[in-house]
Amino acid sequence: MKCQKHLFNIKENIHYLNCAYKAPLLKSSEEACIKALIKERNPSDIIADNFFNVTEEVRGYFAEIINSSSNNIAIIPSTSYGFSSVLNNIEGKKNGNAITIQDEFPSGYFSIKRWCKENSNELLLINPDDDQILIGENWNDNLINQITEQTSIVLISSVHWMNGIRFNLEKIGQKCKKVGAKFIVDGTQSVGVLKMDVNKYNISALICASYKWLFGPYSVALAYINDDFNQGKPLEESWMNRVNSENFSALTNYEDTYQSNAGKFNVGESSNFILMPMLRESLKQIMKWKPNEIEAYCKSLIQPLINYLESLGVAFEKEKYFSNHLFALQLPANINMELLKNNLIKNNIYTSIRGNYLRVSVNVFNDEKDILKLINVIKQTNI
Ligand SMILES: Cc1ncc(COP(=O)(O)O)c(C=O)c1O
Repeated sequence: MKCQKHLFNIKENIHYLNCAYKAPLLKSSEEACIKALIKERNPSDIIADNFFNVTEEVRGYFAEIINSSSNNIAIIPSTSYGFSSVLNNIEGKKNGNAITIQDEFPSGYFSIKRWCKENSNELLLINPDDDQILIGENWNDNLINQITEQTSIVLISSVHWMNGIRFNLEKIGQKCKKVGAKFIVDGTQSVGVLKMDVNKYNISALICASYKWLFGPYSVALAYINDDFNQGKPLEESWMNRVNSENFSALTNYEDTYQSNAGKFNVGESSNFILMPMLRESLKQIMKWKPNEIEAYCKSLIQPLINYLESLGVAFEKEKYFSNHLFALQLPANINMELLKNNLIKNNIYTSIRGNYLRVSVNVFNDEKDILKLINVIKQTNI
């Protein structure tokens, strides 16, 4: 794959290495947005079908990306909404526990913390051992070892949002299955760029904000919710989530039956006439590119940066635990972080800095100039 910057409206002198914060919009999504906005001028142009057809396409495309069926996909506004939808339908084991990792993203952390309180289960936060320099393998091992017959739920991100450490979803999913624990994954920082297979990984629910690696607009997220939740109760009672809701003249027949599978978990007004067409375009584009090709592009793009930093003595996680699209650099001590921060800003390089870590995230809109610019700034700051 070649750089895909031409499909975005990114300013020429900006080096945006921060897709983990928010993705830029595709031109095709922008165009879909403008078209949708103009259509809303005249409600006479909005027909009953429009309440359902774009969301159905979005569900279908997302299902393909994660190897599921569209019946198991729900349209939600945020990850916290998705976590609550699922957690509200899980009973805790007696004297049980729920597991997440240290520094999990707050939406997941607060959701599982509340579930534990309401279900009298203990919350276990898993850390890597203190003496580890490279933490990926040890962190995964510690997590898997803590999953026992007492575990009700494991809720983790597929890729850690701060440092890009990858969790071995296949192994964790197998252990969850063995002990009868639900496996809830926050895929926000990997789905769209890394392979996802909800069946292979035995995932109960996969929740993804769309505005990062799915190139979606802010305020739409997507959830895969497996058939274990078919009898579940949604957070709210939207008219659209009942069978026959397409028949506008018979809505007050008050159907008792929810839409099948995960359709009942769609947020009210899920047809969002502006955001849904935007998301449809971005999912279509991701399928055209293919996540494994995107990952391969990111891997070759960052190679000069990795080579340079290795020459300075910076160590990197093993391939299995390292994300080529999102990683944190622990820079040598002689690099003045304040100076680096200022130099990055001066050179229009957008990254995230946390403590002594520099979080870099790349995608198909980045090119070698972005990486060379970053290398040069690190060189200038290496005093
Ligand atoms: C791992 C992860 N989950 C979720 C979110 C966003 O959560 P929400 O949709 O609840 O705002 C982020 C944003 O940075 C994230 O990194």
